[in-house]
Amino acid sequence: MPAFDQLAPTYDTDFSYSQIGAMQRLMVSKYLVSHLPNSPLNILEINCGTGEDAVFLAKMQRKHQILATDYSTEMIRATTAKVKNAQLSHQITIQQLNIQEIHQLEGKFDLIFSNFGGLNCLSPEAIRQFGQNSQRLLKKDGRMIAVIMSTFCLWEHLYFIYQRDPKKAFRRWRKSPADFKVGQEQMPIWYYSPKGFQKLMGSAFQMKACLPIGLLVPPSYLESFFQKHPNWLQQLYDWEWKWGQQSFLGRFGDHYLIDSKLL
Ligand SMILES: C[S@@+](CC[C@H](N)C(=O)[O-])C[C@H]1O[C@@H](n2cnc3c(N)ncnc32)[C@H](O)[C@@H]1O
Repeated sequence: MPAFDQLAPTYDTDFSYSQIGAMQRLMVSKYLVSHLPNSPLNILEINCGTGEDAVFLAKMQRKHQILATDYSTEMIRATTAKVKNAQLSHQITIQQLNIQEIHQLEGKFDLIFSNFGGLNCLSPEAIRQFGQNSQRLLKKDGRMIAVIMSTFCLWEHLYFIYQRDPKKAFRRWRKSPADFKVGQEQMPIWYYSPKGFQKLMGSAFQMKACLPIGLLVPPSYLESFFQKHPNWLQQLYDWEWKWGQQSFLGRFGDHYLIDSKLL
């Protein structure tokens, strides 16, 4: 069974609806609300997971049309159920599709959106190819908003140093991909700095913004500790939202949101 198929049944309880996962997603949602135009957009969502963001985008009351895609059968099953439940089938089309096969799609999009590290499953060469395919799929002035796991995460370095696990503490710095446990499987993950990601995407994309997602709010594997300290977590969220929205801080978060425009 492919790695992400194993995660799908509990993905929302383990991540989307965890306190930390919900806080990190809220930052992305707030950005989308304030930085997307009010007019209806044709959106391609890649690595949509269980469809949380597809449903959110459809509920923005801006009549967006969303094509939600993922390569995992079980993630697609979860998305289908969620979309049906929310009665949003008229706005959201669902298709099982590998990011590396988006060149098969027809039509043009105003926005390509990728949340929470789906693109970290791609090697540098595959990201380069994805950049070229995206250029062909986006309309003029089209945008790419992606949330990527960064090469530097203060929380992760400190936590695993404290745990005396240097391999994990510095796994984001290695040139070779890190082994990531997804369900019962190990899969390779590549970490990208905002600069490195931008370079691979190609000069046709111009970065408009880059903000950390999880600079003070910790990575989701610290959920059990912070469940005992919900006020601390709220305080970290408030500080991050108030002070963290600076492009130069983007690379220091657990993830960063990068918003680029096709020139
Ligand atoms: C960490 S989850 C993020 C899911 C969702 N975007 C979210 O915000 O919750 C990563 C997702 O990327 C998908 N994924 C990984 N590699 C992929 C690929 N090559 N093509 C399509 N989907 C992929 C996985 O199936 C999984 O659903």
